[in-house]
Amino acid sequence: MANTAEVTQQAIDYTQRIPNNVDLANDRALQRALERWQPAFLSWWGETGPENTANLEVYLRTAVSVDRDGWANFGYVRMPEYRWGIFLTPRDEGRNIHFGDQRGQPAWQDVPGEYRSPLRRIIVTQGDTEPASVEQQRLLGATCPSLYDLRNLFQVNVEEGRHLWAMVYLLHRYFGRDGREEAEALLQRRSGDANNPRILTAFNEKTSHWLAYYMFTFFTDRDGKFQLAALAESAFDPLARTTRFMLTEEAHHMFIGESGVARILQRTCEAMSQNKFTDPAQVRAQGVIDFDTLQKFVNFHYSATLDLFGSEISSNAASYYTGGLKGRFSEANLKDNHSLTEDFYAVQEVAGGEIVARQVPALTALNARLRDDFTREIQAGLDRWNRIPEKFGIPIRLKLPHAGFHRKIGSFAGHYITPDGRVISKEDWERQSPAWLPTDQDHAFVNSLMGRVIEPGQFANWIAPPARGINNLPIEFEYVRFN
Ligand SMILES: [Fe+2]
Ligand SMILES: [Fe+2]
Repeated sequence: MANTAEVTQQAIDYTQRIPNNVDLANDRALQRALERWQPAFLSWWGETGPENTANLEVYLRTAVSVDRDGWANFGYVRMPEYRWGIFLTPRDEGRNIHFGDQRGQPAWQDVPGEYRSPLRRIIVTQGDTEPASVEQQRLLGATCPSLYDLRNLFQVNVEEGRHLWAMVYLLHRYFGRDGREEAEALLQRRSGDANNPRILTAFNEKTSHWLAYYMFTFFTDRDGKFQLAALAESAFDPLARTTRFMLTEEAHHMFIGESGVARILQRTCEAMSQNKFTDPAQVRAQGVIDFDTLQKFVNFHYSATLDLFGSEISSNAASYYTGGLKGRFSEANLKDNHSLTEDFYAVQEVAGGEIVARQVPALTALNARLRDDFTREIQAGLDRWNRIPEKFGIPIRLKLPHAGFHRKIGSFAGHYITPDGRVISKEDWERQSPAWLPTDQDHAFVNSLMGRVIEPGQFANWIAPPARGINNLPIEFEYVRFN
């Protein structure tokens, strides 16, 4: 019988108003509550989702199963008709808690009373980022560099909408009235709104053009990956199962960012090597984005994303770990006793005008550790980007700034730190930071390149075509139909 249970959990019931693999039809109260939330979600989408897109037909993937192979179906969809639903990876009946104080005990199928409030806070904070990014990207469609890119933008948008569903399901199913109120509030906050902003700062920044968008999907969606991976270890099994399935969708978002910046670099390097230009002004005059500008955007998006990991030293992070709510990245593969009570971890901070390393109890440094895991993966991505100028024989490389650069949260906040990790005065920062972070003029230059290219197979001048199309289709496929 175990097999039958597994089959029903992997198949998604698409005959329901809300597609799901959580047997919603047998929980009428929950079904009714979610069916009441659904129209509010759709009006949120209409109001703050991608602008002027209700009638477009977009070649999108939709989850049809939570099976590892063949979970997605591709076809033309009008976005308001996208089948947002509730998809959890199948339950592993024998799953135990594998870190913290309750290691070895069965994973929880319900929320223990004592963890109700921190778990709700974790779920709401994660949930809030999902609609926020859709809001941030609302206007990008008007300046897309190709139909291929436009389709990818919309794919990310509908999936972030689905990630909101994933968190709202948990709130409705496990948190009673409080959960329902939180689910409504998730549709009321707005990215960048002075009175009712999104919870985290990076999700209130503008994503005003496609360079910012690719950087955002490379850096900030990857923060999402690391947060989800830590929650996928959770003792609260429904949270672990829903975040596991979200991670399968997240991979494509990061691919868009990494390949987007790589394609920009490709065009920049082509223009530089054809014309033997090195002066940024000459490079810009070719209608492509110069390295100095790209470096400033790396500096901005990396530092803004590091703030999402929270304070390096955090007693909340320690209690989430000890309680089994949130693990480390790849917790199951780490070879230690998964309690961290005796361990130490090195964190950096400013002391006496310089940056020093300090050993602290590992339990309190879990945010720093997750951030360091993230940085390793980001650095590997930069190394792949840097092969492009290398191939062209251009001796310029993109570099990550120091972790203390341009930080608003944690031990570096309130200090002025250069990209190479020197502590400087406020005056020096104000004089030099326009060389390190995108200025209004830099944004204006990038915006001047943004047009709207919607002929199939055509690409804006500042970005190279991708290596291949979506779902093995040709690059010139009509990924979006305008009717
Ligand atoms: Fe997401
Ligand atoms: Fe994402």
